[in-house]
Amino acid sequence: MARILITGSTAGLGRTAAASLLNQGHDVIVHARNESRLAAVRELLDSGAEGVVGDLSVLGQVRELAVQANALGPYDAVIHNAGVIEGPALLPVNVVAPYVLTALVPAGRQIYLSSSMHRGGTADLTHADWSGSSRTVSYSDSKLLVTVLMAAVARGRPTAQSNAVDPGWVPTRMGGPSASDDLALGHVTQAWLASSAELEATVSGEYWHHGRTEKPHRAVHDEAFQDALLSALAEHTEVELSRR
Ligand SMILES: NC(=O)c1ccc[n+]([C@@H]2O[C@H](COP(=O)([O-])OP(=O)(O)OC[C@H]3O[C@@H](n4cnc5c(N)ncnc54)[C@H](OP(=O)(O)O)[C@@H]3O)[C@@H](O)[C@H]2O)c1
Repeated sequence: MARILITGSTAGLGRTAAASLLNQGHDVIVHARNESRLAAVRELLDSGAEGVVGDLSVLGQVRELAVQANALGPYDAVIHNAGVIEGPALLPVNVVAPYVLTALVPAGRQIYLSSSMHRGGTADLTHADWSGSSRTVSYSDSKLLVTVLMAAVARGRPTAQSNAVDPGWVPTRMGGPSASDDLALGHVTQAWLASSAELEATVSGEYWHHGRTEKPHRAVHDEAFQDALLSALAEHTEVELSRR
């Protein structure tokens, strides 16, 4: 059985992943933005999950979340699921928080929620406001950057596993009621990558969609761009990503 931390588990795909993994007998640590939002996962907590809190748009709270999470570790996997689709928190929540948690919470498997929309992103860090005091990127840009982060982690940590998942367009709060994919399938690949002992789940540096690997945006495997992203994130957060 695996021990798995899932960010943003109060709703949508994070919640369904947590419920499914808990149901399979894994140890699941759920995450909410604050104590009152933990109420949304009361049922999961009553079923054995443990909880951590922190607003991912606030760098200090992400650091504090890592301390809380490590007190409940060690982990086999972290699913970096939490995300926003608009607003100034696009970079802090979708990119900075996954970076900081990857650096500060050790786990052999890191799984990042990407999106097919990352293919419309622009690989340009020039105007990025990592603090989120203003909106400087699109959702597509943020999903491209977190997919680049995935590949950088895979390259820097060759004995660990780092993968990104496009869950499809599913009818969560973010996806909206018109979403055309099956909600029941939305969490399956990331839950499998986090917990499976199957050989395929040990691959790293891949972009997945419904259990298959796909070719991501070409910037994802651009090593110079990966290095530039890691440098920018290290400078902003004052947190270095170690190799382990
Ligand atoms: N739905 C889709 O069609 C789709 C498609 C491609 C990729 N994705 C990706 O899949 C992931 C999950 O999406 P979803 O559809 O399940 O979204 P969702 O239903 O909107 O849920 C998002 C989760 O992230 C949490 N979150 C957002 N901002 C946060 C913050 N500042 N601090 C802490 N937690 C925060 C939310 O907490 P609260 O409940 O407190 O707001 C919630 O638990 C995202 O990364 C998204 O980009 C989704």
